[in-house]
Amino acid sequence: MPKLYELVEFLDSYLNIHDDYGDVVLNGLVLDACEAEDEVKTVCLACDVNRKVVESAAERKASLLITHHGIFTRHDEARLVGIKGKLVRMLMENHISLYVAHLPLDFHREVGNHVALAKTLGFENFELVELKRHSRLYGNVVIAELKSEMDAEEFAGFLAERIKVSVEFQQADRNVKRLAIITGSSMSMLEDVIKAADIDSFLCGEFKHGYAFHHEELGVNVFYATHYKTEIYGLQFLGEKLKNTFKGLESVFIDVPPLIKRVGNGW
Ligand SMILES: [Fe+2]
Ligand SMILES: [Fe+2]
Repeated sequence: MPKLYELVEFLDSYLNIHDDYGDVVLNGLVLDACEAEDEVKTVCLACDVNRKVVESAAERKASLLITHHGIFTRHDEARLVGIKGKLVRMLMENHISLYVAHLPLDFHREVGNHVALAKTLGFENFELVELKRHSRLYGNVVIAELKSEMDAEEFAGFLAERIKVSVEFQQADRNVKRLAIITGSSMSMLEDVIKAADIDSFLCGEFKHGYAFHHEELGVNVFYATHYKTEIYGLQFLGEKLKNTFKGLESVFIDVPPLIKRVGNGW
């Protein structure tokens, strides 16, 4: 079983955690709730830090929780109050240290959220293309080629079925064949993606009204497969990687999607 510091050293290096792409989220080990020399028997992984996730990690007696969305940003004041204070207290009381991998996980070449989603969708032949803004490198995008093209509605149905999610989409006047994938809240990156790669479609997580009409002008199909559902596979792949790297380590993915209900068909 690895010691906490060995796991952290491995994660820092494997995820290039200090290569943080200008992330506002604080990455790496952000909360030390046990000693560096303590052995870690169980590590839990989850998309978010919330009460249900921490309770579940505590039930499993995990000593380390790895999440994609953190609880601290570079702009935070150092006040551990309200919900944040409560979560920190729960983690401390249960001796669960917290490690965050935000953009370093989104853009990782092996276990990145986009790579893991592409593999989960069954795409085997894809490439990673680097993204720049004002000539500064800030991430990368998966470009996957479909074996046979589909129309947008057919592809949305395929996504919905494959990852069990309700999909929203904006349809362009062309079929889906060359697809770009960036997970989560990545709508703002579409223009940079189009500059970097020849695509007809874009798969992301979350629809944001501010970009809706902008996207209509760009002439590509855009699929929204929810923020949560697009950002859980990287963690699952990372959990497998840890299990295969450290003998005797148990890794458990905790699935806690947000409780959103939908009703009606109109806007
Ligand atoms: Fe996200
Ligand atoms: Fe993300």
